[in-house]
Amino acid sequence: MKFSLTALSSLLSVSLFGQAAEALSPAEWREQSIYFLLTDRFGRTDNSTTASCDTSQRVYCGGSWQGVINHLDYIQDMGFTAIWITPVTGQFYQDTGDGTSYHGYWQQDINTLNPNYGADSDLQALSTALHARGMYLMVDVVANHMGYDGAGTSVDYSVFTPFDSQSYFHPYCLISNYNNQTNVEDCWLGDTTVSLPDLDTTQTAVQTIWYDWVANLVSTYNIDGLRIDTVKHVQSSFWPGYNDAAGVYCVGEVLDGDPAYTCPYQDVLDGVLNYPLYYQLLEAFSSVSASGGISALYSMIGSIASDCADPTLLGNFVENHDNPRFASYTSDYSLAKSAIAFLFLADGIPIVYAGQEQHYSGGNDPANREATWLSGYSMSATLYSFIASTNAIRKFLVSTSGTGTAWATASNKPFYQDSTTIAMMKGGAVTVLSNLGASGSSYTLTLSGTGYASGTSLIELYTCATITVGSSGVPVPMASGLPRVLVPSSWITSSGLCGTTSTGTTTTKVTTTAATTTKATTTTTACTAATSLSILFDELVTTTYGENVFLSGSISQLGSWNTDNAVALSASSYTSSNPLWYVSVSLPVGTSFEYKFIKKESDGSIVWESDPNRSYTVPSGCSGSTVTVSTSWR
Ligand SMILES: *[C@@H]1O[C@H](CO)[C@@H](O)[C@H](O)[C@H]1NC(C)=O
Ligand SMILES: *[C@@H]1O[C@H](CO)[C@@H](O)[C@H](O)[C@H]1NC(C)=O
Ligand SMILES: *[C@@H]1O[C@H](CO)[C@@H](O)[C@H](O)[C@H]1NC(C)=O
Repeated sequence: MKFSLTALSSLLSVSLFGQAAEALSPAEWREQSIYFLLTDRFGRTDNSTTASCDTSQRVYCGGSWQGVINHLDYIQDMGFTAIWITPVTGQFYQDTGDGTSYHGYWQQDINTLNPNYGADSDLQALSTALHARGMYLMVDVVANHMGYDGAGTSVDYSVFTPFDSQSYFHPYCLISNYNNQTNVEDCWLGDTTVSLPDLDTTQTAVQTIWYDWVANLVSTYNIDGLRIDTVKHVQSSFWPGYNDAAGVYCVGEVLDGDPAYTCPYQDVLDGVLNYPLYYQLLEAFSSVSASGGISALYSMIGSIASDCADPTLLGNFVENHDNPRFASYTSDYSLAKSAIAFLFLADGIPIVYAGQEQHYSGGNDPANREATWLSGYSMSATLYSFIASTNAIRKFLVSTSGTGTAWATASNKPFYQDSTTIAMMKGGAVTVLSNLGASGSSYTLTLSGTGYASGTSLIELYTCATITVGSSGVPVPMASGLPRVLVPSSWITSSGLCGTTSTGTTTTKVTTTAATTTKATTTTTACTAATSLSILFDELVTTTYGENVFLSGSISQLGSWNTDNAVALSASSYTSSNPLWYVSVSLPVGTSFEYKFIKKESDGSIVWESDPNRSYTVPSGCSGSTVTVSTSWR
């Protein structure tokens, strides 16, 4: 094996000094996927999964930065490469008629941290822990306003640091007309219980403070990207200087569904949250066969493409802390999967909001801010597995090693629609989404217009079904309203998908601290070696109603052959033509074990697969990758 001198010195430095990931450029963020969490609601330092958290009280529930560190496996094993955490700055802490500042959007001192989330060293440790895993940190920041316990007419400005005088702020008026942009920018958010004093960001003094502050925040905590709050409430001309000073990818919240309003903010920031898409995803997928929803989504893809400077740098989401959860509209899992698949397979950077993977169903704020720990961090939840699969698919498409195409920068083009189905093509991958829901029938949708020649072998990446393109197009096997993603079979040979063995590499940007005082930045193609891998067991087994499938094996994670402790598989993708049961289990690299699938009958009796025992050794691989083991009942 040969290394270039640079690669060798970089490897040496990595092993001697440890590695720190360097702040990511917008182009590098395009390849990430983001897990968004409210620091107060995701994980506790004591790891409790029972500590109560009544969302209606709007109080601190005890989540912390150390609690996030404790549960990074949970996030990484779902395939995420980055987290976005809520604001870190010092708040006011008293209870008000509007609750407390547990969410972090009521800052009073921008130069201290919120002690409820931990100490300075904890935020440093979170950043370090992420980078050690090859993951990235995005922090939420607010430049539009401060927070005050009281009406805007009675603000004591001396409580703010450093904006300790009224002269830094716009005169008090509550926003009264959202169609008047001056009113939106100069008047105040909040209400008469908690007011949000609006900084006069047109002043050079205010700009200087913010630009210096953001540069310092990013460098102090090695932050890789920023999510910026309430962007449309600040004049556009403020943002280029802020984005430049930050020096990392910035994605702004512009809460408006009209791309003609929202997209122009991408001319002043690297990206914006994709609210135009959000509303159309709800239209299309929040109820079975929603009338007109698919066609509205289809045309919105075109509007975003023409209005936004770069749709691939938008932040895609269908849930967040400001809007009702998807499952508050529908409990249908196939609809939830279809909306999630869209986030990952269309243009944009996918963002999943903590609890979405547990199918949380809280409605409007504050009900949508449920504590993730109360789910017990179940890694066998249906959407947890689905998101893990979808992250693996996107990771494969992003890495050009298999596909030979620049999928991440390719433009997503919808090319087919009917009243319940949309099909789109991005960089050679075909995504087909339906809103028929879980009770949708099994049928073949023949798609022309993909450009794939008759006789080409394609593979569907969720079911691993092989499909041969016919003379009239691609026969896509649809069932139960589930998403489909098709790529040429030849692409996946060494991808780790569908039972193949991964030899893929991921690009990790590594900064090494050299012995000299200068900072050397090199790019290597080595991935971060995983200590544990997520193994997806796909078992084709026909079952009857009341029968369930479990995985029993020789290691403790599989119950040490005790069938009472065997791991349950999910039948959420089961169809009569594709009787798939599956489960994802995280296991340390190198673990060797024997196992069998078992059926538990409704009367509790067990049916074992026939001998011999199956055996498996967890391979080494890149951190965050998933290995699929596909088998059939025997
Ligand atoms: C919480 O979980 C982490 C990760 O498993 C562990 O390292 C830590 O010791 C646990 N802390 C407590 C208080 O149990
Ligand atoms: C828009 O809002 C500003 C600030 O409140 C106000 O001064 C101005 O009169 C408004 N313009 C119109 C046309 O209402
Ligand atoms: C499978 O493993 C179990 C538990 O170790 C053992 O009792 C059984 O003999 C094995 N079966 C075969 C065919 O090796």
